[in-house]
Amino acid sequence: MTMFRTRTRGGHDQGPAPEALRLVKVTRTYGTAENAVTALDGVTLSLARSTFTAVMGPSGSGKSTLLQCAAGLERPDSGIVWVDGAELTGGTEAELTRFRRGRVGFVFQQYNLLDTLTVAQNTVLPLKLAGRRVDRRRVTEILTAVGLGDRLGHRPAQLSGGQRQRVAIARALVTEPRVIFADEPTGALDTRSARQVLLLLQEAVRVHGRTVVMVTHDPVAASYADSVVFLADGRPVGRMDAPTPDAVAERLAHLGDDVTAGV
Ligand SMILES: Nc1ncnc2c1ncn2[C@@H]1O[C@H](COP(=O)(O)OP(=O)(O)OP(=O)(O)O)[C@@H](O)[C@H]1O
Ligand SMILES: [Mg+2]
Repeated sequence: MTMFRTRTRGGHDQGPAPEALRLVKVTRTYGTAENAVTALDGVTLSLARSTFTAVMGPSGSGKSTLLQCAAGLERPDSGIVWVDGAELTGGTEAELTRFRRGRVGFVFQQYNLLDTLTVAQNTVLPLKLAGRRVDRRRVTEILTAVGLGDRLGHRPAQLSGGQRQRVAIARALVTEPRVIFADEPTGALDTRSARQVLLLLQEAVRVHGRTVVMVTHDPVAASYADSVVFLADGRPVGRMDAPTPDAVAERLAHLGDDVTAGV
């Protein structure tokens, strides 16, 4: 069995296009015996291509674990993950790494840039790691698009938090991944920088057809998404399309009142 099994042969032109992301009964437990914590409790979830989804829920509800399992950074204990129609679970570590480098981009709350590398070098790192050709013009294009065209030779320490996060987004976009996962990408940013980052993520979806899955605690940030998936106790407990900040805040306040409202 290979984890690169796809549902259609010879590309995606036969039959309906697969979802960008599909999880079936994904479970992840940390610790053992009496210390065991079920971070994800049989999560089943589908996200269509070219959509922007926010994931929200209380601290400890499993949001980061969900993203890590969906992105192949963590392995579920059980269940299956497909990204863009290819199964992510079940391969070797090396296959998983190759898969991740090819199809997935990840943006973290704390940027995760390398201090000793310049903005341009940080941005091309995923291409280098994947052994892919670096097109300098394209890199300049991407960094210009995120508003950092004049900062290519700067080091992360010379940038503001918002600028660093935009480097991280450029780095996530450079491999042209199918799905971009972002875990609280605006958590450390002021309102204005957060807005820039959210508009970039929105543009990745609307202009470039990528799929974005973003964890956030902020109802305003969530309102940039097409829909919100709510998690509680490691399970999806609701979904909202066309979210507004007020509606999201209202739903968050009542999460857990109705845990039977599945996704
Ligand atoms: N590496 C780990 N080792 C042990 N327990 C973990 C680990 N990672 C997560 N957990 C546990 O799994 C549960 C879900 O954690 P997770 O980080 O996914 O929550 P979260 O929804 O992202 O929370 P937050 O909003 O605070 O970031 C928590 O109870 C947490 O303590
Ligand atoms: Mg988290």
